[in-house]
Amino acid sequence: MKKVKIGVLGGFRGNSMIQYCKSAQNAEIVAICDKNPDVLERQKKNLAGMDIAFYADFDEFIKHDMDGVVLANYAHQHAPFAIKAMRAGKHVFSEVLPCQTMKEAVQLVEAVEETGMIYAYGENYCYMRAPYEMKKLYAQNKIGEFEYGECEYIHNTEGGAHVLTYGEPNHWRNNVYSTYYCTHSLGPIIHATGLRPVKVIGIEGTKTERKLRVGSKAGAFGLMLVTLENGGIIKGINGGLYKDSTWYCMYGSKGSMECNRNVHNPIDAHPNDYVQTFDLHVRYDEFSGDYFNPKEEHYSPKLSLDHLAKGYGHGGSDFYCMWHFIEKIKGNPEADIIDVYEAMDMALPGMFAFRSILDNSAPKDIPNLRNKAERDLWRNDTACTDPEVAGDMLLPTSVNGTPEIDDAVYARLRHLYETHYPAKY
Ligand SMILES: NC(=O)c1ccc[n+]([C@@H]2O[C@H](COP(=O)([O-])OP(=O)(O)OC[C@H]3O[C@@H](n4cnc5c(N)ncnc54)[C@H](O)[C@@H]3O)[C@@H](O)[C@H]2O)c1
Repeated sequence: MKKVKIGVLGGFRGNSMIQYCKSAQNAEIVAICDKNPDVLERQKKNLAGMDIAFYADFDEFIKHDMDGVVLANYAHQHAPFAIKAMRAGKHVFSEVLPCQTMKEAVQLVEAVEETGMIYAYGENYCYMRAPYEMKKLYAQNKIGEFEYGECEYIHNTEGGAHVLTYGEPNHWRNNVYSTYYCTHSLGPIIHATGLRPVKVIGIEGTKTERKLRVGSKAGAFGLMLVTLENGGIIKGINGGLYKDSTWYCMYGSKGSMECNRNVHNPIDAHPNDYVQTFDLHVRYDEFSGDYFNPKEEHYSPKLSLDHLAKGYGHGGSDFYCMWHFIEKIKGNPEADIIDVYEAMDMALPGMFAFRSILDNSAPKDIPNLRNKAERDLWRNDTACTDPEVAGDMLLPTSVNGTPEIDDAVYARLRHLYETHYPAKY
């Protein structure tokens, strides 16, 4: 069987996709790009003897003979690289998030349409076992029409900040706002229901001591109330509360379902150590008002390729999202990717929740970029917290402005990184 040729940009998180390609039957890794010589050197050592080209420069890397690229570079810089890659004739798997401004969102959507290349958004949490089962059950009408849901992605990065940001003051994790990284929470409910978000209200946690201790300038957490096109509502939260958790719950017109709260281990734990049991609890009636015959199911869902996904990070979801991307390239009708429009449905609520936060929690409409006429409203909107991109539309990093952080905070993390960097690979 001919393998799909893949290149990976970013050899840190990208290591997961490199490992996928190394052992997959449907893909092979042919090129790796990272501007950090230490990261590139580690990958060269790990992959010694394999026929892989290594690059420090993306513009050289993208010329390599390959079918698709994985973008595991900085979370706020995916869109420009995705656009370049698709215009160079490569399919794209983008790590979270898809873009950092509305201008980039419009450009990204139009690049997908103009090039016809496959764009798969790598929101792996959608492919965790319980959320994926929730999608299946929703399609079977088990709980009826979606009315309300809750979702949370709680990740306190204080203990692993030296690994994640290496003491870099302008690392994206230090500069993004509280609701930016919202797709691990919202994504699975959007993917399960297929409903488009239309309106959002945002609120921010203001107790930021833990964040400031590690140089992060955002609010403590971002809370969103998202209205969907059918009138259903999602309450989503993401941020650095104590302790970590991933959790999804959905109420429909004749039932409800939720998974167990899932507990994250420390950032430097081996992926196998993640506690990803994700048991599911479903309660439903055959029809609304059928009170005398209630049904309950409590089980631990399995997916068809769990034997291959065993050992992959995030409860095996790192395997599944890559598998679907590769199978999509191969033309497999079973492939279930998250396309660019759905990626926007997951990410734009966070972008507009922050605009709501900065406007005393006033509700904000969420643009629908499937609608070409709406795009012109946003084509020049560069509002974000990244000074290199925002121009005169620079936003503060939190509702209380952008905090000043002492250099000593970053120096401490840099020192920790240099002396305690874990053997991640
Ligand atoms: N889906 C998940 O569960 C999950 C988990 C962790 C990280 N992520 C995502 O993975 C991405 C990477 O995060 P990370 O934790 O690896 O840390 P990171 O963002 O610090 O690392 C990115 C890597 O990309 C390289 N890079 C960045 N720009 C480059 C360029 N222009 N040319 C060449 N190399 C470049 C950097 O040197 C670095 O090694 C982010 O988008 C993050 O959101 C996702």
